[in-house]
Amino acid sequence: MIQLMNVSKSYYRADQEVKVLIDLSLEIEAKSFTALMGPSGSGKSTLLNLIAGIDFPDSGAVFVNRVEISALRESKLAEWRANNIGFIFQFYNLIPVLSALENVELPLQLVKGFPDNKEKKNLAVSALERVGLIDRANHKPSELSGGQQQRVAIARAIVTNAPLIVADEPTGDLDRESATDILNLMSSLNGDHGQTIVMVTHDPKAAKRARSIINLEKGKLGDE
Ligand SMILES: Nc1ncnc2c1ncn2[C@@H]1O[C@H](COP(=O)(O)OP(=O)(O)OP(=O)(O)O)[C@@H](O)[C@H]1O
Ligand SMILES: [Mg+2]
Repeated sequence: MIQLMNVSKSYYRADQEVKVLIDLSLEIEAKSFTALMGPSGSGKSTLLNLIAGIDFPDSGAVFVNRVEISALRESKLAEWRANNIGFIFQFYNLIPVLSALENVELPLQLVKGFPDNKEKKNLAVSALERVGLIDRANHKPSELSGGQQQRVAIARAIVTNAPLIVADEPTGDLDRESATDILNLMSSLNGDHGQTIVMVTHDPKAAKRARSIINLEKGKLGDE
């Protein structure tokens, strides 16, 4: 489902080149649950952003479901993201002035040809039900605990029924108990709903919940 072919990516600061990913090739199977691990600065978030079509490689190709997303123009890519990717971040990234329900509805505004507000609300309600937070639908993010905010973020990631969920340290800011809740939810998305999940984590316990682990070291694949 996900294929990286000879991908390289650098960032430039002043006139200095920072090589982040170096001639990286890998494959991630459809419907798998993969943990992406590696030291800080090894390029995990950069790799996740390439897989999610948030950023472009300098060279090489990124394919997702046989679409070469690294060759799409930005406008096409935005449309592709809206239909194919759900994002989960470490710090939830919810919109503070919107309720939980409104936050979950947001990605549906980006899906083309989706004019029906009632249907949007129905989908957002059922996503909140799936994460067990329908009783908090009208709460603002500041009125929710960290674990609850992350569950809202998961509802937002699944509301479009995207085939691929990418998560960048989704349990990084949570206590052990909330982290376990979040990991259980992610496992059920993968196991019951067949969504492909790629999750960056520093936590070996979290990584154990995935079915395979990719180790990055200095922009290349490391040892298992
Ligand atoms: N927008 C940017 N501009 C310049 N350098 C960047 C940028 N984004 C990342 N970098 C650099 O690229 C390298 C890899 O960053 P990346 O965020 O992918 O690492 P990471 O493995 O996710 O680290 P962490 O575990 O700390 O989140 C780092 O050295 C970082 O400083
Ligand atoms: Mg990172």
